[in-house]
Amino acid sequence: MAAWTDVTAFDPRAWAARRAPGPVLHLDSAAAGRPSLATLEATAAHARREAELGAYVAQERATDVLAGLRSDVAGLLGVAPGGVAFVESASAALAALLASWPLPADGRVGVVGPEWGPNLEAFERRRLRPVELATDEAGRIDVAALEQRLATDPPALVHLTHVASHRGLAQPVAAAAAACRSAGVPLWVDAAQAIGHVDIATGADAVYATSRKWLTGPRGVGVLAVAEQSWDRLDVPRSAMLSSDLPAPAYLESHEAHVAGRLGLAAAVREYLADGPDAVAARLDEVGRLTRERLAEVPGWTVVDQQAASGAITAIRPASGQDVLAVRARLLETHRIVTTACLPARAPREMREPYLRISPHVDCTPDALDRLADALADVDDV
Ligand SMILES: Cc1ncc(COP(=O)(O)O)c(C=O)c1O
Repeated sequence: MAAWTDVTAFDPRAWAARRAPGPVLHLDSAAAGRPSLATLEATAAHARREAELGAYVAQERATDVLAGLRSDVAGLLGVAPGGVAFVESASAALAALLASWPLPADGRVGVVGPEWGPNLEAFERRRLRPVELATDEAGRIDVAALEQRLATDPPALVHLTHVASHRGLAQPVAAAAAACRSAGVPLWVDAAQAIGHVDIATGADAVYATSRKWLTGPRGVGVLAVAEQSWDRLDVPRSAMLSSDLPAPAYLESHEAHVAGRLGLAAAVREYLADGPDAVAARLDEVGRLTRERLAEVPGWTVVDQQAASGAITAIRPASGQDVLAVRARLLETHRIVTTACLPARAPREMREPYLRISPHVDCTPDALDRLADALADVDDV
């Protein structure tokens, strides 16, 4: 297998050197990435300042760093800084959107088959009806069919999960956003697996994500962004406790929050910007390709979407009846390799069986993939 190539401008070994070495082979960034030492230090330093100065004084003193974070995240998400609200998770962001964006009762939400299952549940709880939009064979939205649908029978909302959780699939979000914009139908985007992974400044009306995956920020921090043309339509919970002249998305921000985590995210985002989002995306794409190539050689497993997949998430399905939950546990306990067993609830409209998910970050090496391949063969022998 090929060793490091120079498709990227930065050195993944420097990325690895910024992190504490761990006792496991971590191939699970789609669950939660490994934060850098600078991210851990920024988080811990703020927690310490909270203890020394009082939490609210510490927060006041961090005003400039937090404003820098808002502006960095706004740049990544492609909105004005006033459109960004920090919350606790991607799910919390979607809940805030659903609570504040007026939508007709029993309205239809256009989705595609690979949609993240808990999002479908959130729509149904809000009494919205998910309806399926046309895709290509791989599950990517068919933009020409979308344009036609928007012209003839538009849903109240289109929702796309930019990068799927359970397999290596990215949606053509920028093209879908342009189609939705010209039809006047809002597009919301779940970028939980996309932020820090691919370009997410796509022109969608709302986009939300989490700190802890590909950005390798702390847990417990999520981001929500609303494009400026939609601020006025938000029905937000204003409070006399807050100044009355903030942009509407500010009222969606959680005020009792993991502020130390936000400081950690500020450090993680700075590192990501210094590495270069395009360079990181190119390297992650290469890592995914190398992973799929190596795992295609492992007997007893089939790579999902070997041809159509992109990005650094790889799914493999058991070809000889293996129990994916047991394999995941054996990989961890016996081989000290961290992966995820994806159950069909992650994407109930298309998954029929569990997959094993492998999601290395930019520091993945050919040796690491050989170790995984050997471990899978060993686990199969049992
Ligand atoms: C595509 C996708 N959307 C949403 C989420 C939920 O994110 P959170 O746990 O931050 O709410 C995840 C988490 O894995 C995800 O993969």
